[in-house]
Amino acid sequence: MTENSSLLAEFPTCPRDVQDRPRVFTSASGAYVTDKSGFCWIDFDNARGSIVLGHGDPRVVEAVGRAATGADGTATGWSPRVDAVLERLHALCGGEVVGLFRSGTAAVRAAGLAVREATGRPLLVSAGYHGYDPMWYPSDAPLVPNADGVVDFFFDLGLLAELLAAPERVAAVVVSPDHMHLSAAWYRELRQLCSAAGVVLIADEVKVGLRYSPGLSTAELLNPDVWVVAKGMANGHAVSAVGGPRALLRPLKEVSFTSFFEPTILAAADAVLSRVATGEPQRALREAGDRFLCHARKALQDAALPVEIAGDGTFFQFVPASEELEYAFYAAANTEGLLFYAGDNQGVSAAFDDAVLTDAEQRFTRVCDRLSAYAGGEPVDEAARYRVAWNVMDGLREAERDRAATDGMLARLLDD
Ligand SMILES: Cc1ncc(COP(=O)(O)O)c(C=O)c1O
Repeated sequence: MTENSSLLAEFPTCPRDVQDRPRVFTSASGAYVTDKSGFCWIDFDNARGSIVLGHGDPRVVEAVGRAATGADGTATGWSPRVDAVLERLHALCGGEVVGLFRSGTAAVRAAGLAVREATGRPLLVSAGYHGYDPMWYPSDAPLVPNADGVVDFFFDLGLLAELLAAPERVAAVVVSPDHMHLSAAWYRELRQLCSAAGVVLIADEVKVGLRYSPGLSTAELLNPDVWVVAKGMANGHAVSAVGGPRALLRPLKEVSFTSFFEPTILAAADAVLSRVATGEPQRALREAGDRFLCHARKALQDAALPVEIAGDGTFFQFVPASEELEYAFYAAANTEGLLFYAGDNQGVSAAFDDAVLTDAEQRFTRVCDRLSAYAGGEPVDEAARYRVAWNVMDGLREAERDRAATDGMLARLLDD
């Protein structure tokens, strides 16, 4: 990589400096990552929430190392680990059949296309991010399907009700659950709308699945027909999964890829799934996150900084009152070595022990000290809450609004 350019064709999401150059990390351990200058960061990004157990978790390392020697199956064909991973996913998330993939993007796409083929209906009604695949790009106007037959309702249940007025054209509603900006009541109404219309509900739990509890985060609220999980499965290793009724997922029979049986990935998934099945890592990271949040809220208040925090210890998001303060906030955090996922959700790992949290709290207090120029500024308003929620969910936060307000908000946020 040179100063301004890279040989890499893609522009992957990762921590970047103010010039948008990727920060280069040379090592990681537990809650810490070290960059090439030797500076040590506390990792709240954790590969966008995939590193649930912490970097270099010893039991995952042991399982992956053993598999890499060839002592635990082979990339050439089926191994006992395939059945172990499938059984664990089935026990945690349900479904008559389970499919395996390499990325969240691939799994959600496959789920949507399978249900479309199985139902013979043309439209996918979507809300939230489902990966980089252009099939999910919104069309130019709300309520108009894009060229791939996908139409976005941006988490607005009024728009969804309009789209479900002709349910015979809808193969599935595909939703990426968010637990920072949507309430239990919102999910219950979503389920009710889908059931009343007789439309399949796909929960894209790539991000939230297995992280909030040992299963789907919406199992009770939504009881989705088809589910997708990924980030909570393998502590950053490249695997994702789809589950649901055999009849709806029959088209997945056509799916195969060369690295299907790669043994280190299956070993990582088996080791991580056995841990998340206990609920212990989820409890540990929630507790750690809650302790950090408690400190952060008080430090922000003591410093009179207009920054709210949405969510809870499992996933949370800073809501600064203005874009200017947001920029200054992440710059100050960078200076203090708090590696936040800028503008998005923060996710601690189960490796955040007392010593890490004390270190993180001290750094956060210094971040607040650095922002004294913003003390006593205008409080966070609805526009700021909408803007920040849009960054993380590609849609509208739950709030009272009529159709005109929804249209105005969408016009503004889609334009930004
Ligand atoms: C809800 C959701 N779906 C799909 C994806 C895509 O997953 P991947 O980046 O593994 O392709 C993501 C990634 O962040 C996600 O959060």
